[in-house]
Amino acid sequence: MTDIDPAEQPEHGADQPEHQPFSRVRVSFAYRLLRGTKPEVDEVDRLIEKCTTVDQLRRQLVTDAGARLHGLFQESIQLRFLKAPAPQVEVDVPGPVLERLLGRVESVWRGFGENDPFWSVLTRFKPAGAAVDRAAFYATGRKRVEFLAAALARNGVDIASLPVCFELGAGVGRLTAWLAERFERVIAADISSAHLDVAAKELSARGKTNVAFLRVATMAELEGAPPFDVFFSIISLQHSPPPVIKRVLEILLAKLNPGGVAYFQLPTLIPEQRFAADTYMPPTSPREQMETFAVPQKVLFQLFDALGLKVLEVREDNQCGPHKLSNCFLLQKPR
Ligand SMILES: C[S@@+](CC[C@H](N)C(=O)[O-])C[C@H]1O[C@@H](n2cnc3c(N)ncnc32)[C@H](O)[C@@H]1O
Repeated sequence: MTDIDPAEQPEHGADQPEHQPFSRVRVSFAYRLLRGTKPEVDEVDRLIEKCTTVDQLRRQLVTDAGARLHGLFQESIQLRFLKAPAPQVEVDVPGPVLERLLGRVESVWRGFGENDPFWSVLTRFKPAGAAVDRAAFYATGRKRVEFLAAALARNGVDIASLPVCFELGAGVGRLTAWLAERFERVIAADISSAHLDVAAKELSARGKTNVAFLRVATMAELEGAPPFDVFFSIISLQHSPPPVIKRVLEILLAKLNPGGVAYFQLPTLIPEQRFAADTYMPPTSPREQMETFAVPQKVLFQLFDALGLKVLEVREDNQCGPHKLSNCFLLQKPR
């Protein structure tokens, strides 16, 4: 509500230039009505100058306010990241602990794959229990692979010089279907055999014969993966505890052929998150079992360094909503 009654105000004030349809009073009234505060004189003049129709004035007032709110929201989110303390995230644990953590991820994701695989890949696109529009679902993968191609082109990497792509966390093949169009061979790897079964059926229905499927549910299975030219992974690594993410990256990135690239997404900062293997209590309710973890950039940069990988790009990609900082990395192994 506002305390100005427009009925008491003249339609055209003495202050109104002839070519303008609005009086200062009317613009002030609209401003106070929509924004809840009194405008500065300069602001009223700016609006009178800029707007010649009621629609323009309304848009100006509403859009400006929206943009300002959006800016404030972004700023408060950024502050969370900018003021975050040192992350308390354990990334190095003994081998048996790693196997135990990995085993748990396998059983959770195989369960998702057996019960509702499409929901487990895109929970918003395909709500739990709902029917899936398969064509629309698989179509969502196209742009991700276009982003990969664009990142390579932007960095002067010739995609045609990279025959074999290894996709980690291929899920039901949403992205694999598009990777298979770009690369001579794709190795679609996943921790869950249930997801891989769905992916294999889909790729075969699409007549794709250049895709091999590989389960990577133990450290030995990961170590056994063949070398490749491209490592690709989107919204997959994030579902494993930090020590698993680090070790998986360590094993797989070492398999890049000279000149090869890694393009993958990973959250790097969730300010309130702590991880210690000793005290980690995996959630028991199915909804909470889809956990998201971050690995600090410092840990990742040390790893890239140790493996002799060159960082070509790091971009914030908003894959995990505003409260988790997600990055997309592009790395290259020198020839
Ligand atoms: C949210 S889905 C995303 C699938 C696919 N990347 C996409 O975007 O369509 C996550 C997938 O990662 C797999 N996954 C989770 N942790 C993994 C790990 N440590 N190694 C390999 N795959 C993993 C899951 O089984 C699941 O298929």
